[in-house]
Amino acid sequence: MNKKAIWIDCDTGVDDAFALFTALKIEELDILGISVTDGNTSLDNGFRNTRNVVSLAGKEDIRIYKGANKPLIGKSAMDASEFHGEDGLGGVILPESKAEVERKLAWDALYEAVKNSKEKVTVCAIAPLTNIATAIAKHPDIVDYIEEINMMGGAAAGGNTTCCAEFNVYHDPEAAENIFKSGIPVNMFGLDVTMKVNFSRADIKEMETYGNPVAEALKEMVKYPLAYLDTVSYQNDICLHDTLPILYAVKPELFKGEKCAVYAETQGSITRGKTVTDLWTDFKFEDRHCRLFLDADREEIVKITKEAIKNY
Ligand code: BDR
Ligand code: CA
Repeated sequence: MNKKAIWIDCDTGVDDAFALFTALKIEELDILGISVTDGNTSLDNGFRNTRNVVSLAGKEDIRIYKGANKPLIGKSAMDASEFHGEDGLGGVILPESKAEVERKLAWDALYEAVKNSKEKVTVCAIAPLTNIATAIAKHPDIVDYIEEINMMGGAAAGGNTTCCAEFNVYHDPEAAENIFKSGIPVNMFGLDVTMKVNFSRADIKEMETYGNPVAEALKEMVKYPLAYLDTVSYQNDICLHDTLPILYAVKPELFKGEKCAVYAETQGSITRGKTVTDLWTDFKFEDRHCRLFLDADREEIVKITKEAIKNY
């Protein structure tokens, strides 16, 4: 089988966990490594969560690397503990991974992996873009070895963290802007599309019947975000935000996107972290380096997710 070489950069909270459990069951994916950044939760929490999720999936052979513990500039503005809980996984304690702890840093490990890969690598970035931006700054020729960056982040429309900004871009707008200007093609899965792909409460009820350790862990994990969602008006269900950029690497036919340019606002007092696109205007930016996704086959994505979880 011709496998697709990818690297995953994450900040394991609840929806990263869904994405990882799904990715780790997709045979067509060759996951070269996984790196972790500060984001939904602290770097240490995210690193432990990622190791334990990957271990529960039975894939301790995949190496996991620590990256940034803060954005490129300044301190972490925030985490997303109101949604994912203090520890990032809604308080669920997973069995400790027994894999050896990697000491190499995320940006060096990523560089080495893409340089040694026979084919160009797709980077699936499902967290703030600090690690990827650091890899590009430290190893500028890395751009020659990356086929594209499939990122979860931003939105042509409004935000989920401020009125303008989505969490991953708001957390480190400078890093996102460096990605958009890096020359690497970007497939952007922002809230425009990810909010359309929900894992409904009925889907959760079904998952509760699977009875394997992964389904049991996810069943417990979703309780915290669901309780939070009961207190807000803009969203009712958990969205599979982070699954989309990974699934696109092997199933592009499930997504509809348009070519455009995207840049991140870094200066605005109320617009910091907004992703600005030239999608709906005749005034186009010169360098149209992105494909911005606006729609996806929700039914099929949920089906693939459920099949993956069921098969553990
Ligand atoms: C993004 O932010 C995090 O809460 C999720 O893991 C996802 O990557 C959604 O805005
Ligand atoms: Ca994430």
